[in-house]
Amino acid sequence: MKIRKIIDKRVHEIEFLKIAHLEKKLINNISNLDILIFDKNILKNILIKKLLKKFPKRCFVIKGHEKIKNLKNYSILIEKIIKLGVQRKTIIYSFGGGTLGDLSGFLASTILRGVEHVMIPTSLLAMVDSSIGGKTGINSKFGKNLIGTFYLPKKVFICSDFLKSLPKREIACGYAEIIKYSLINSKQLHRLLIKQSKGDINEIIKLSINSKLKYISDFREKLKTKNSRAILNFGHTIGHAIENSNFYKGNLKHGEAISLGMILELKISSLLNYYSKRVDSLIEVLKKYNLPINHTKYVNNRTIPTLINKITFDKKVINEDVNIVLIGKNGGFIKKISIRDLKSILYQIK
Ligand SMILES: NC(=O)c1ccc[n+]([C@@H]2O[C@H](COP(=O)([O-])OP(=O)(O)OC[C@H]3O[C@@H](n4cnc5c(N)ncnc54)[C@H](O)[C@@H]3O)[C@@H](O)[C@H]2O)c1
Ligand SMILES: [Zn+2]
Repeated sequence: MKIRKIIDKRVHEIEFLKIAHLEKKLINNISNLDILIFDKNILKNILIKKLLKKFPKRCFVIKGHEKIKNLKNYSILIEKIIKLGVQRKTIIYSFGGGTLGDLSGFLASTILRGVEHVMIPTSLLAMVDSSIGGKTGINSKFGKNLIGTFYLPKKVFICSDFLKSLPKREIACGYAEIIKYSLINSKQLHRLLIKQSKGDINEIIKLSINSKLKYISDFREKLKTKNSRAILNFGHTIGHAIENSNFYKGNLKHGEAISLGMILELKISSLLNYYSKRVDSLIEVLKKYNLPINHTKYVNNRTIPTLINKITFDKKVINEDVNIVLIGKNGGFIKKISIRDLKSILYQIK
């Protein structure tokens, strides 16, 4: 099964396949000019073992983590790759989560002014989010993802077999983004998520990707349009503030902070009369997928001033207003709220 979408006159192609089929494709197509980058945590995978054996001199192994997305690491890696030898027709194959994918995409987009990148996302978050849409990047010491490019991979291969080795907590983080899609625009996804049994993961991934792609038709974010990429930030304005405030020494992962952010942003939607259903049904879904729901530990009278400070420094703040994504009858939309109002709302709903 394939998903195709034209973005900035280029085809974004995402193909779903089983591991045996992926193996055939890769073994037949990878050449000795290509570069392979693997996440250390997937080395036990039989396909990865075979690739390492077949292309021992062209492989790099990196332990995926937010800290690998920095300039120092980028420069070490790019020099190593250039030293090995690359040509215009070299293809970079990356196998890993979002951190390794973002770094590899940035490398591919800058080596020789751009060589092709084939992405094989191996975390759930990377399958439904970071491998989709062509954003690459690394972090600056002044903030996350501040250095990067828009660069569509030549292909994205989704092989859910990789998820068998993914830790439970990482699976939950992927579900946070999936639940976000279900609220902003996909009733079909919502129905699948609330079913008694956990649905077919490939169907869930496919619906999530289609949901994200609705907001991506070109690279620049257009705040004014109905399908603005910014709508994908539902749960992220407050979620990021919680994540970056680090109240409990960084023990919250991104998806977990977004889980709490979504609860609060849905409560705001409800308080402002845009959302008329029960917020509790979101809480039940989050619980079902092992995500945290107790926001009072992070959002309370003591922490609200710090959170508001973080939101003010967030790049989404223009003058005194913040663009926050709320949920209404027809899904996600952007609402401008003044920082002062947001603060008083937070005190009401905490
Ligand atoms: N480019 C974009 O549009 C975009 C969108 C969303 C997020 N992101 C970025 O994605 C990153 C987060 O991605 P992530 O959550 O995948 O993080 P990650 O790359 O750190 O992976 C999470 C953990 O899972 C491990 N892992 C990955 N696949 C595995 C597997 N199959 N089996 C066992 N372990 C496995 C990794 O080693 C790591 O420990 C962030 O840096 C974020 O900025 C980018
Ligand atoms: Zn996110």
